[in-house]
Amino acid sequence: AEDGYDLWLRYQPLPPAQRGIYAPSAAQLVMPATSPTLVAAKEELLRGLNGLLSQAPATSERVSKAGALLVGTPQSNPQVAQLDLGLKGLTPQGYVLRQRRVDGHPTLVIAANDDVGVLYGVFHFLRLLQTQQPVDKVDVSESSRIQLRMLNHWDNLDRTVERGYSGASLWDWHKLPDYVDPRYTDYARANASLGINATVLTNVNANAMALTPTYLHKAEALAKVFRPYGIRVYLTARFSAPVEIGGLKTADPLDPQVQKWWQAKAAEIYKIIPDFGGLLVKANSEGQPGPQDYGRTHADGANMMADAVKPFGGTVIWRAFVYSNEQPDDRAKQAYDEFVPLDGKFRDNVLVQVKNGAIDFQPREPFHPLFGAMPKTPLAMEFQITKEYLGFATHLVYLGTFWEEVLREDTYRPRKGSTVAKIVDGTVHNYARTAIAGVANVGVDRNWSGSQFDQANWYAFGRLAWNPMLSSKDIAEEWLRMTFSNDPKFVEPALGMMMKSHEAVVDYMTPLGLHHLMGRGHHYGPGPWVEGGPRADWTSVYFHRADANGIGFDRTRKGSDAVSQYAPQVAAVFNDVKRIPEKFLLWFHHLPWDYRTKSGRILWDELVYRYTRGVDTVREMGKTWQSLAPLVDSQRHAEVAAFLKIQEQEAKWWRDASIAYFQTFSKRPLPSGFAPPE
Ligand code: GCU
Repeated sequence: AEDGYDLWLRYQPLPPAQRGIYAPSAAQLVMPATSPTLVAAKEELLRGLNGLLSQAPATSERVSKAGALLVGTPQSNPQVAQLDLGLKGLTPQGYVLRQRRVDGHPTLVIAANDDVGVLYGVFHFLRLLQTQQPVDKVDVSESSRIQLRMLNHWDNLDRTVERGYSGASLWDWHKLPDYVDPRYTDYARANASLGINATVLTNVNANAMALTPTYLHKAEALAKVFRPYGIRVYLTARFSAPVEIGGLKTADPLDPQVQKWWQAKAAEIYKIIPDFGGLLVKANSEGQPGPQDYGRTHADGANMMADAVKPFGGTVIWRAFVYSNEQPDDRAKQAYDEFVPLDGKFRDNVLVQVKNGAIDFQPREPFHPLFGAMPKTPLAMEFQITKEYLGFATHLVYLGTFWEEVLREDTYRPRKGSTVAKIVDGTVHNYARTAIAGVANVGVDRNWSGSQFDQANWYAFGRLAWNPMLSSKDIAEEWLRMTFSNDPKFVEPALGMMMKSHEAVVDYMTPLGLHHLMGRGHHYGPGPWVEGGPRADWTSVYFHRADANGIGFDRTRKGSDAVSQYAPQVAAVFNDVKRIPEKFLLWFHHLPWDYRTKSGRILWDELVYRYTRGVDTVREMGKTWQSLAPLVDSQRHAEVAAFLKIQEQEAKWWRDASIAYFQTFSKRPLPSGFAPPE
């Protein structure tokens, strides 16, 4: 069915000419499947070739004719063992694709040191066919520098998903472990096709029940499905679990009883799930319990859990997304202030997971100042794939470009060239552990992600987690070809839509560095007027600070001084209104309405210009998509078209509401040449 269920793994028959090109390279398959992972890899390969080429190769014990596919590890496949393939330099789960002569026959070899690498190599090979790339001279060696490429599900035990816009949680806790939905296997296939090798099943706002035996056995059933695909299961740990499910009076990390409780809990978990990955913890943030409740530090809390899982090879991932309303200072500064003094104090099986920016997954943020500032503590990147602040599932926003922007920012720590990507992949500080996490956007919707184009964000996340240096444009093109069509008449315009989509949403929601202007709680539509309520930083006025004189949050040295959390070279740029990139202008500066921007327009006019441009871009995207109707199946085309209409309406809503509201401060007319709000 053309409902998007197959994601980018559609394996539709290639045009006859293409089949003719590839068939001779898949004339025979030599692939002893000696493990569940190799069985999965072989099934995938046969499924893919059956679909793409409409025929599966005959299997054989040994290469005996031209055009064989020789697949495996040196252990699983004797003929692989005989070849010099350059496997030595690969990192775990890395792989090669090489053309070799085997017993005189031209052969395409897919090989790795471990079975999961073979599975990844198979997916790579299929991707080449799906995107119609030549394979006759293929020479690929792929290794990831990021050890943990993980999804974070914000899924609750009642199957609601915090910030989820694609239906209920995939995890059917009620029927697990006795009923195992086949969809779990498709989830694992999709992730493995990207190299995602870890999944946190539960919400960071954790329920301690997830660590009770009942739920551990349910998690075990999922782990069993995911294991052949190289995916390890993690759970979130509620810091107060010893009290809530353990019957203790305290969760103080320095209390021996509490430590013992966590040690016993770890032993229990690993007895049920021997390859359990570890625990993800949100503590002392947004009201969650944590070590500070007992006068202890984040390091005290993380280390206690790290000691508990250490004997079993487990990892603790401790989140740096912390802020509290007792802290009156600029919220953007809190994580840095709390964590930098703890650098070097964490156990070696702890990673600190940092959101891409210091506020909260805004449409655009400058990179988080913690990147580069903790040389002795492995920092994991946390991106949000689900579009909490970006129009949920109906707005078409490709996030690859934004993530690429963040990964390529230069932290200048300790020196020029120390990009965020190089901090996270361990190059700069020699981190022993590396990780990139993405807050998942999948649920039980037939199309998984709530919309067809949101699948691209899952895809792009996985590809960038494997290799943060990839180009978001290449990734988008790859995804379009696999998911829709290789026809350049489709690919080029659709790629154009994707590539400008992020800038468009920034324009119509939060141009020029504005942020957190969404409606309170749901974060969907505009709410720049939100004030009052439980806390200062849960209002929009806290963030935009518009008044008769101007607009923007002064984080310069004269203001909250958040700029000083960056390296001096970066701080100097952000602090200087003449040098700061305009996309971050009002993030760091409070400026008068008649401030002259680079375009020559005054600030007020520039704001109106950008809001308007955002709407115009969405309208163009809608037109482009209409023109692609003949090239896309009608079901998916209609869904995307309907969503683009919603997006256009809501972009106007954002534009008009924002302009009208800010106009009450600026008291200026709409600049000439701009149509008044329709
Ligand atoms: C955001 C989001 C919350 C989430 C939090 C987090 O604030 O709105 O729902 O719990 O991020 O990342 O912990």
